[in-house]
Amino acid sequence: MDRLGGCRPLKAVAIAPGKVILYGEHFVVYNVPAIVMAIDRVVKVSVSIREDGSLRICSDLGFACEYKNGAAKPLMGGKKSVSFLEPVRIAAKTVLDHFDERKGLNIDVYSTIPSSVGLGSSGAISVATVAAVSKVLGHEIDKEQIWRLSLQAERYVHVTPSGVDPLISVYGGLLVWRIQDGSKPKRINRDIDLVVGNTGIQRSTGKFVSIVSRKKTKKIEGISQLMGVMNWISNLALKAFKEMDLVILGVLMNMNHELLKVIGVSHESLDRLVEAVRKAGALGSKLTGGGGGGCMISLTTLSKRAAVCKAIEENGGQPMVVRKNNAGVRAWLVKS
Ligand code: MEV
Repeated sequence: MDRLGGCRPLKAVAIAPGKVILYGEHFVVYNVPAIVMAIDRVVKVSVSIREDGSLRICSDLGFACEYKNGAAKPLMGGKKSVSFLEPVRIAAKTVLDHFDERKGLNIDVYSTIPSSVGLGSSGAISVATVAAVSKVLGHEIDKEQIWRLSLQAERYVHVTPSGVDPLISVYGGLLVWRIQDGSKPKRINRDIDLVVGNTGIQRSTGKFVSIVSRKKTKKIEGISQLMGVMNWISNLALKAFKEMDLVILGVLMNMNHELLKVIGVSHESLDRLVEAVRKAGALGSKLTGGGGGGCMISLTTLSKRAAVCKAIEENGGQPMVVRKNNAGVRAWLVKS
């Protein structure tokens, strides 16, 4: 009860994980299977209802905006806050429209996923926003609906996304998925030892998705033929997971990195880290996510983990040991 004796208004909180793509980024946009793992870095979105009907979004990265009568007013972080928070606004509006609701909302976003480096922070933010807004409005939605509703915001960020980022954030775990599977990814019940290397170079995944799309349309660099090669790599990786053949998984990661280089989405800072961790004893390594900077991953063993982390640091990157998040998105109500 509040001080006036009424019921306290409710707040909904949702948590959603980031991800690393182990095999198949970019190619997954063209229906090639990707293998992707949710990680133990999450975003938390909390939402309460505003009586004045307006929308206010605030991020712990120093951005805040208020939206009234269709206009966005930056409250913190200047004009950049409008584009930064746009996926959150789109995700919230998609849910309001879906349920034909006209309520105002306060949305607060907190993240432990570094942003714009290929670890799925924008997908996780969209997913957590959809889940928390639905919850605070009193609508129970299942995981498939959360994924479908979050695709609208994902399109703003990745231009022509496959949907894999929000998908892994919704379901969690280690999944193999291609576009034609829709909301039915297959789980791989395995754990692997992974170290992420963050180059610290922030970039836009949407830009690199568009670059690949242009090359594919113009049929340059044999991208269409490479789709077949990537398909083969992903299927072999799935088989290697079944047999838990880490050596083959590592070799396939190295091959995947070469393909990503050929289609033009790597970066010298990524190639440097990829080479350095192999020399330090990683079983395999590749860029992860959109490329052009951002992060790479190394498949390692416990005995080589420290050496791999050191190699990343010595070559200008920031190492992060990541573990699998099995839960995916979760949302609940709290008394505010
Ligand atoms: C980004 O994490 C993955 C990409 O394949 C884009 C997408 O599938 O939407 C580059």
